[in-house]
Amino acid sequence: NEGSLWGARFATGPSPELQRLSKSTHFDWQLAGYDLAGSRAHARALAAAGYLAPDELDAMLAGLDSLEARVISGEIVAGEADEDVHGALESALIGIVGSELGGKLRAGRSRNDQIATLVRLYLKDHAATIGRELVHLIDALAAQADAHRTAIMPGRTHLQHAQPVLLAHHLLAHAWALSRDLERLVDWTKRADVSPYGGGALAGSTLGLDAASVARDLGLAGPAENSIDATASRDVVAEFAFVAAMIGIDLSRFAEEIILWNTREFGFVTLDDGYSTGSSIMPQKKNPDIAELARGKSGRLIGNLTGLLATLKALPLAYNRDLQEDKEPVFDSVETLEVLLPAFTGMVATLTFHTDRMAELAPAGFSLATDVAEWLVKRRVPFRDAHEITGALVRYAEERSLELDAVDDEALAAISPHLTPDVREVLTVEGSVASRDGIGGTAPVRVAEQFSRLADRVRHL
Ligand code: ARG
Repeated sequence: NEGSLWGARFATGPSPELQRLSKSTHFDWQLAGYDLAGSRAHARALAAAGYLAPDELDAMLAGLDSLEARVISGEIVAGEADEDVHGALESALIGIVGSELGGKLRAGRSRNDQIATLVRLYLKDHAATIGRELVHLIDALAAQADAHRTAIMPGRTHLQHAQPVLLAHHLLAHAWALSRDLERLVDWTKRADVSPYGGGALAGSTLGLDAASVARDLGLAGPAENSIDATASRDVVAEFAFVAAMIGIDLSRFAEEIILWNTREFGFVTLDDGYSTGSSIMPQKKNPDIAELARGKSGRLIGNLTGLLATLKALPLAYNRDLQEDKEPVFDSVETLEVLLPAFTGMVATLTFHTDRMAELAPAGFSLATDVAEWLVKRRVPFRDAHEITGALVRYAEERSLELDAVDDEALAAISPHLTPDVREVLTVEGSVASRDGIGGTAPVRVAEQFSRLADRVRHL
């Protein structure tokens, strides 16, 4: 079993079926750069503890540099017999520096503490990338909101017309949700910022290696407090998968709206040609595929999270090979978001909003009824009566296919003497929107405040 990390106590090499099952190089090879960074830090710790002479350390580091260059150039790839990235890189290093020196690097570490460290390094880097992409999307939403400060649209509950709102208010609602996802990512980083290196297989190392300096070398805040926890836990991976799934879910909710807004029936938006697709048979079609893929991929992100949680459930401490199953789902979540977010941002940034159409529909469906009821309350009519009176007004208008502002003065007075003609002052969508001026409301003055608050929040994360 030449080149393997564990052949000696076995009479025969692994069966081909086992090799095929066990192999992880087709997905963990992308951790090669982190593995080599770990090896450099580990070599320095070995040298500091006296296990590598200064010239050996120099030769080891030079060998690792040359190995890295050859991995990057593609000259060195995982071989057929390699089980995982750690073993493959060790044999390649031995090929470069010889087995005497190369064979010293594994002292005091295990693939168990290695892999637990590498996955954190990988996720930290990608958390930063995904965070930057989220900021771009939040910026695109804020820019669209800023470009449409006065546009009014039908606000909905239960997908029914509810109350008119500013388009900017609605767009910023999505931006606020995404800002919390960004905050989750930043907060996740605090828990990810720990180095399992030094945990060994599970119980720690006898060699007196300085785990704190390894952590520092790797850009991690410090070593793990417990070697069993360090090698056996994957909650940090699962939490990342949760944040990724939550981002997917938040995108899917906006995606669904864009799909609806883009229908002929709504006619609220037109997608840019560069961010929509055609049909192979229907020449007229222009489809919202980015939004649909966002909606679809949110399912995949949820699946990655639930698969990972299922792997972890009831897994006894410490390391079990089951833990190898953490990587494909979370790598997939990373790759999914890194492809999806830029396309989604491009789609949002280039959306054309048909504000006339939105404005035309904003008062429809009696969306000003609450304004009438609250107008009555301001005249000291108890809300219960105000609700009744307004309900009767809506019914009167609906039976005659009228909008509320088309009901004449006589009919208003007949419904209730409280409904004097000045009620018309609240029967415009502009009046309605402007009057919702409490904190967080849709009044233009309140929405204007959100831009700087949102920018501050994102900047301080
Ligand atoms: N490739 C493994 C993983 O991803 C690490 C190897 C540990 N293997 C072992 N038999 N202890 O978790």
